[in-house]
Order: sequence, then structure tokens, then C-alpha cells
Amino acid sequence: MLDDLFDEKSGLKEWDAPEGAVVGIDLGTTNSVVAAVVDGKVRVITDAKKHHLHPSVVAFKPNGKRDVGVTARMRRVIDPRNTIFSAKRIIGQSFRSPGVQSALRHLPYEVFEGANQEPMVRTRAGQFSVVNISTMVLEYLKQLATKQLGKPVTHCVITVPANFSEGQREATRRAASAAGMQVLRILNEPTAAALAYGQKRQLHQRIAVFDFGGGTFDMTVLAVREDIYEVVATGGDPFLGGDDMDHAIAQHLGRQFLEEHRVDLGEDPSARACLLIAAEQIKMKLSKDQSVGGTLNELAYGEGGKPLALKFHVDRNMFNMLVEPIVERSLDLVRYVLEDAEIRPEHIDEVILVGGATRVPLVRDRVAQFFGARPRGDINPMEVVAAGAALQAHALFAPPDEATASVGLLMDVTSHSLGIATAGGYVETLIAKNTTIPAEKTRLFTPARDFQEAVKLRVCQGEEKQFAENTQVGELVLDGLPRVRRGDMKLEVSFLIDADGLLQVSAKDTASGQTARATLRVVGVSESEAA
Ligand SMILES: Nc1ncnc2c1ncn2[C@@H]1O[C@H](COP(=O)(O)OP(=O)(O)OP(=O)(O)O)[C@@H](O)[C@H]1O
Ligand SMILES: [Mg+2]
Repeated sequence: MLDDLFDEKSGLKEWDAPEGAVVGIDLGTTNSVVAAVVDGKVRVITDAKKHHLHPSVVAFKPNGKRDVGVTARMRRVIDPRNTIFSAKRIIGQSFRSPGVQSALRHLPYEVFEGANQEPMVRTRAGQFSVVNISTMVLEYLKQLATKQLGKPVTHCVITVPANFSEGQREATRRAASAAGMQVLRILNEPTAAALAYGQKRQLHQRIAVFDFGGGTFDMTVLAVREDIYEVVATGGDPFLGGDDMDHAIAQHLGRQFLEEHRVDLGEDPSARACLLIAAEQIKMKLSKDQSVGGTLNELAYGEGGKPLALKFHVDRNMFNMLVEPIVERSLDLVRYVLEDAEIRPEHIDEVILVGGATRVPLVRDRVAQFFGARPRGDINPMEVVAAGAALQAHALFAPPDEATASVGLLMDVTSHSLGIATAGGYVETLIAKNTTIPAEKTRLFTPARDFQEAVKLRVCQGEEKQFAENTQVGELVLDGLPRVRRGDMKLEVSFLIDADGLLQVSAKDTASGQTARATLRVVGVSESEAA
């Protein structure tokens, strides 16, 4: 185990003190944060206006130019079809998956199916894969960091939700390498948060990281013993976040508008974008205040082109009622994770809140009620993930002695079971959920026919018995097999989930000792994208 984890460092020694800079990146659904360790301290990289959070938004403007970050976000209302946000909700998945299809209902820009079922967006500047869009966000972050650190950023540690699948991880890695950064490690967001929290604290605690962001919810339990971080269990929902609260409020406002003016705003992308932005502001205001009111002008036009407005008033109780089902879903997931880990809520020593949606008082209250203790209030929920990524990046980049001193040992786990399709449409699980990574499993296959030169296996992630009900990873093709009778071949296939949570496959015929070619075609990520 130790050897595996120190792999990178021995690799890094060969680079001989790289000249570039290394950063940690939290590529968020809504906002991204980039940080670096400078003089032993984490520094969060800011834009020209000193913002720490950089909206993960790309705007394609009529003048042919492109904006990313805060200025791009401002174009969401005026140009909804060319302002791409929440790309993380659909990255690295099949366009046809139920998750993507339901996310599309809320996105005002055009998404269509590209090669290998990859989601693509169409804008006035042309069509782009969702990976391309994330690359543009990452290039922007890299540019900000390069400017502030005074040297080109060449390497990064990038974080992903713990429950990200193979395709989502692979797509994220490709986006970062296309942005010109070598990815040292893909780190799970809650694990990164725990690293930042535990830094220099010499803890002996069991901690729960409750990460409620814009688009995803993750819950992870870790055992921290000084500088050893061991993930005990993890779970979550890639389609649950603060955005859902905005949709609930926007729907409420839309219903009110329909009642008052008999006009359905559902089909108008501009009005929808306007309602969503107003909804988010209402939500944020209600994190501090008991009620909020105002008027939204010119949402639609009535008879004779008369502009129609909506006067609204939302109080904390109404808001709580609207978002309660969303908060309850997050707590259900917490229950599942604790059950998996066979841990009772009172056995958690500390709860760390991560992500903007944990600013909502109802979320804080419910979490406190559930664990019987107030979560920590001294951690910045928006920056802690990037800080952990920066610490890990620094550790992987630094000379080995210093590295061990700054971040200890990380033992993360798989967030889904990995399986292959069997006859009859069932799944044979190869690596179970919550297995410590790196994890390897070898399995013997016998071809179905004599002289078979290729074998195809369908691979999935998830906990369902039926193959079709899980997330499809893709197809594993084994070819270049020796032309022999089926009984004379013993095909040994190994499935390795590496420290980044990425699947690597290899195959050999143990009867002849020959290596076969093993190619994994991940669905939802186009093969043409730079690997
Ligand atoms: N003060 C606040 N009150 C309520 N919600 C807030 C507040 N500030 C931010 N949010 C919400 O937090 C969410 C963004 O959080 P965050 O930046 O942590 O997400 P993210 O990292 O982009 O997403 P993810 O981690 O899911 O990829 C948005 O839904 C935003 O509206
Ligand atoms: Mg986040």
C-alpha cells in the first residue's frame, strides 16, 4: 500500500525540481477556486477584482470574444443561449443517461448528442464538447494563477465529487490536460476538505464531511489519525445541490406569475434565466434575513406589448417549505453512508460543512439535529476544497521529506461498485463500493467460441443487480487474442482502480503467456479529445 501511494514521488524525483508552478483546483458546478501553497501557506488566487470564487461560466459574445468567470456569469440573463454554465452537471456522461436528460430540462442553452454519446453544446461561436467548455474554465484559472504566482502553472491537483464515475473523472482529467496542465492527482472533494481541516492539527478523530455544493452532494466519513486520512465510507448524489433550491424557488415564482398573468414562462429561456437568478438571490438573502421582497420587471409581454412584472415576497418559512424535500434527500444519503460504515451519528467527532448550500440555515439546523452537535463554523466552506487540493499538490511536487511532513497518507475508497455484464443482463461485481484504492481484481475469462479473436465486455458502476440500471462505464474490448480453441485459452483480465479513482485494464492469456490488447471505450467522452 505504501509503495503505491509513494509512486508519484519517485516519479517526480526524475523531473528534477520542475520549474513551473503547481496549483490545487476545485472545479465546481457553479464556482471554481484555485489555490497554491506559497511560503508554506495556502494562497487563494483572485481575479482582477479580488474575487476568490470564479464562476464556472463561459460566455460567447456577439463580437466573437469569449468571457470566463464573473463577467461571463453576468451574461446569463441577457444571452442565455450563449452563456454556458453548470457544465459539470453533464460532463463525462452519456447524453442519453437519465441524469443528463433531467439536467437538460433546466439548461437554457442547446445541448446535443455527439460522437460516443458525448454531450455537446451549440453556441454562436460553434459547437463544443462539454470537456472543451471545462477546458476553457481551467485555462482561465491557470492564467489567473500564472499571473499571480509569477511563473507558468504546469501541474495541478484537481478535485471531483467523491461519487464521480469513471467517465466523469476521465473527462475532467482530459479537460485539465487540454488546458496545458499535468494532472498530478484527481482528489475527491470531501477528502481534500478533510486534508485542509486536519493540516497540522495532529487529530485522532472520526470526521464527517457534508459537502453540499451547487450541483452535487457528497458525504464522506474519514478516520483521521495524525497525518493518516482514511476514508471509511462515501456516498452522495451527483444531481443534488443548491441549484435545485433555485429551481424550486423559480418554479414557485413561475406559478405565481401564471396565476396573475395567465402566461407560462416555462418556454422562454430569457425569462427562465431571469427567474433562476432572482431565485438564487432570494435564497442567499434568506440565509441572513427572515424575508425578502421585490419586483421582477419585463418578464413577459401581454396584450399590446404591455410589459408584465412579478411582485414577490418570500419569507424564511415559505423558503424552508420549498427546499425541505431537497434538504431531506441530502440527509437520507447521510443515513445510507453511515449505515454502510456501520457508524452511528453520535460516533462522529466532528462535522465539516463544505459548499455554498451549507450556508442555508435549514441545512445547518438539520445537520446539527441529525448529529446532535453543531458543525464547525470556523472553516470557509467555499475554499476548503481548493486549499486541500493545493496542499496535496504541493506535497506531490515537493521533495519527498517535505511532502510527508505537509500531508500524510491518504487512503481513499471507491464510491461505486465496479462490475461487468453477465448473460441475462445481470452484473457481476468485481470491486465493491468503499474498497480502499488503489484496488485491483483479476478475473479469468474463457471465450465463448473456438478461434475467437476478440472479446467485448460491458462495464458499469453502481449497486443495482440489473446491468441496465447502473451507470454505463463503457465497453472493454480485448483483442489480438491467439487463434486457439476456447479450451486452450485462459484469459486473465485485471481491473485496477488507481489512486485517481480511474479504471485501468489489462489482459493476458495465461495459457500462452501472451498479452492481449485491452481497450476501454468510456461512454460520454469522445475518443478524439486529447487524452
Ligand atoms: N449565502 C448563501 N446562502 C445560500 N446558498 C448559497 C450562499 N452562497 C452560495 N450559495 C449557493 O451555493 C452553491 C454554490 O456552492 P459551491 O460554490 O460550493 O458549489 P460548487 O463547488 O460550484 O458546486 P459542486 O461542488 O456541486 O460542483 C450555489 O447553489 C449557490 O447559490
Ligand atoms: Mg464544490
